[in-house]
This record gives sequence, structure tokens and C-alpha cells, in this order.
Amino acid sequence: MSNLSRLLKESWTLVEEQQDKLAKYFYARVFLNNPQLRELFPVQMDVQRSRLLGAIVTAVQTVDDPDRFAEYLQSLGRDHRKFHVQPEHYDVVGGALLEALRVFAADQWTLEFDQAWRDAYRVIAERMIAGADADSSNPPYWHAEVLYHERRSRDIAVITCRPMHPLEYRAGQYVSVETRYQPRLWRAYSVANAPRKDGSLDFHVRAVGAGWVSSALVRRVRPGDMIRIGSPMGQMTLDRRSTRDIVCVAGGTGLAPIKALIEEMTLANRTRWVHVFFGARDRDDLYDLACLDRLAARYPWLSVVAATSEDPDFPGEHGNISDIVARYGPWRDHDFFVSGSPTMVRSTLRTLVELQVPAIRIKYDAFGDS
Ligand SMILES: Cc1cc2nc3c(=O)[nH]c(=O)nc-3n(C[C@H](O)[C@H](O)[C@H](O)COP(=O)(O)OP(=O)(O)OC[C@H]3O[C@@H](n4cnc5c(N)ncnc54)[C@H](O)[C@@H]3O)c2cc1C
Ligand code: HEM
Repeated sequence: MSNLSRLLKESWTLVEEQQDKLAKYFYARVFLNNPQLRELFPVQMDVQRSRLLGAIVTAVQTVDDPDRFAEYLQSLGRDHRKFHVQPEHYDVVGGALLEALRVFAADQWTLEFDQAWRDAYRVIAERMIAGADADSSNPPYWHAEVLYHERRSRDIAVITCRPMHPLEYRAGQYVSVETRYQPRLWRAYSVANAPRKDGSLDFHVRAVGAGWVSSALVRRVRPGDMIRIGSPMGQMTLDRRSTRDIVCVAGGTGLAPIKALIEEMTLANRTRWVHVFFGARDRDDLYDLACLDRLAARYPWLSVVAATSEDPDFPGEHGNISDIVARYGPWRDHDFFVSGSPTMVRSTLRTLVELQVPAIRIKYDAFGDS
């Protein structure tokens, strides 16, 4: 671990237990120093549980290897255009962060710690600002009209929309989405199709518990509604130079980016076997299995295994999808795509470690903090 990284981690332990209070203080400082910034944030800040502060702290802690995250920070900066963030706002936020750390670490705070946080924050902010600058030819977000809204189960909807301006993305990427029902609340959703000539995008959305945005998307949004979409992010894309066969592991609506990747392969793939493992609690939640089966019938390189964990009569595999993947194989020479809830992704990654799949061959998106 580098000295900078050690200082950042060590100093964070001084305040870690007071995170909630620190977050409140941080936001109060941001809004006091620049009251206009309040308008950038959602009305109900308690819903967010200090997403921005958490995100900055995580980013700062990874500063040891900024090159590894260069692409991510660039796209994060580009994505921040949707919040109307300007370069000068980075100083306000960075200043408030330093003030909060100083106050909560009190007399344990040192000049060395101060300098470490300044340096780390500056590197990240510079990369994000550069990312936003480089994207000035695109709009900060896209307005899109909902064309179709199909309920596939109690909690799941497939939504098709068309952005008013062309939106370039790669199969496997995600965008953030805002509905008019919860202004300024943005959530990430994977685009579930490969780019189409008419520019339309599919989303597979599952309404979670008391979820604000997912409930609105599944239960309230209708054809004709306008939604807003942020710029595409994510690295879960196909490496077209690889000749390896592919395994895709999807849990629930984690199928969305996998479906986009499969669609991309239907356009060009002739040589790579593609094995899809699709798991859900019950058959209702295997909301797109019929479509996958049709694709598998049409493309000889594609096979689909479906599994349920809580549906004993389901005529397919039973159990957690990560265990089922392990029963097939061997997989040591395959490229992997994994997508679903954080729990499902974590357990699949553990299985892949046990199966000795090298980490470099695994791309994944967890639908939450993983
Ligand atoms: C890269 C990425 C891609 C994603 N793609 C998709 C996608 O294609 N389809 C999709 O449906 N979702 C996807 N998600 C998840 C999505 O971004 C939201 O997190 C999810 O829809 C919940 O948002 P919300 O506003 O409805 O819930 P919030 O209001 O944020 O949360 C409300 C409550 O629900 C809990 N909660 C949040 N998420 C879950 C969950 N998954 N399971 C159980 N409880 C939860 C929270 O802890 C909270 O208590 C993706 C997430 C990421 C990071
Ligand atoms: C080092 C600098 C920064 C980093 C690493 C960063 C990172 C992030 C990330 C990852 C999120 C999304 C969190 C989530 O998943 O919901 C986020 C949200 C947000 N960021 Fe930043 N950000 C930075 C600076 C800024 C600045 C300068 C502003 C301008 C005020 C800003 C405004 C916002 C807003 C408004 C949100 C949405 C917050 C919410 O929904 O509660 N960010 N940030």
C-alpha cells in the first residue's frame, strides 16, 4: 500500500463511526458555502443516505490506482453533467469535505492527513472535470419518450423508450434514469438491447420494496411519458478481440445487459459458444425466458439454462444460480459476464474463484453496493 493510501485509510478510521453526523455536516457546509447547489440535489435528502459523500470517500480511497479507474472517473464526470455540475463546484465540495473531516477527527487530525485528502480529491476532481469537458458535444442528458410499457410479472416491467437525440452506447452499458415522479432522483439501469437503427432503448426494471425510482418505472410510467437519461457508463462490454467462449450469469433483471450482449452477438458471432445461466426466485421472475429460448432455437452457438431457487415445480434447474454454474463447466478458459443483485454477484464471483477462473476474464455489474 502506498503512503498516500495508508494516510487516507488511517485518517478515515478516525471518523468512520461518525459517518452519519459527518455527512450532515458536510452537506450543511456545501449548501451554506453555495446555497444554489441545493437545487442540484433531490428534495428528500434522507432517501439518499449521503450518496455523494459515500461515493467521494470510496473514490478517494481508490486513488492509489487512478489509472485503473481513469475510464470510470472520466465517465462519472461526463455523467455529472446531468446534475448541472460546473468545474467550480468541485472546490466547494472538496472544501466542505476537508472541513467535515477536520471537525470530526478533531485533535487527531494532522497536516499530513489534510494534504493526503487534498491531493487525492484533486486527482479525482481533475479527471472528472476533464471527462465532462471532453463530452461537450453531447447533451448533459437525453429526453426520451416511453413507447411501450409491458408488465411481465408482479414486480417487473420491460420499458421501451426513444431518446429525442441520438445516444451512443455499447451493448452491456448502463445509463441513469430520472422520472417526472421523483425529480432529481437518478438510478442506474442497464440498456437491455444492442444499439438499434431507430435509437430505441429497452429497460428491464424490477420494483424493489419501497424503491422510489423502480416503483415509479414499473407502476406509474406509461407510454407517452417523458423520462430523462444520463450518459452511458460501464465496462461490461464485449471484447471483440477475444476468441474465447462465453458464460453469462444473470439473476433476475440482471438479464438486461446480458440480453444486450446476446443481441450484439447475434449480429456478428459465428465462432464463440455462449452459455447463458438465468436464475430467479420463481418462474414468474424468469420474465424473459421465452425470448431467450427463441434465440437459443435460432442460434446454434447459444444455450440457455434457467433455474429457480424457490419454485420446486419449475421444470428446469433448482437452486442458486452460482451453484448451478459450478455444476456445468469446466469454465477455466471462458470469458464471464455476471449481472444481478449484489448478493448474487458476490456468490457467483466466489464460485468462479473456486473454479479458478482468472479475475481478468470476469466482467460484472452488481445492481447495488457490492
Ligand atoms: C450498474 C447498475 C445497473 C443496474 N441495472 C438495473 C437494471 O437493469 N434493472 C433493475 O431493475 N435495476 C438495476 N439496477 C438497480 C437500480 O439502479 C436501483 O438501485 C433499483 O431500481 C432501486 O432503486 P429505487 O430508487 O427504486 O430504490 P431506493 O429508493 O434507492 O431504495 C429503496 C429501498 O430498497 C432497498 N433496495 C434497493 N435496491 C434493492 C434491491 N436490488 N433489492 C432489494 N432491496 C433493494 C434499499 O436498500 C432501500 O431500503 C442497477 C444498478 C446498478 C448499480
Ligand atoms: C471527487 C468528486 C466527486 C465524486 C467522486 C462524485 C461521485 C458521485 C457518485 C458516484 C454519485 C452517485 C452515487 C449513487 O450511486 O447514487 C454522485 C452523486 C451526485 N453527485 Fe457527485 N461526485 C463528485 C463531485 C461532485 C460535485 C462537485 C458535485 C456538485 C455539487 C456533485 C453532485 C452530485 C449530485 C447532485 C449527486 C446526486 C446525489 C443524490 O442523488 O443524492 N458531485 N457523485
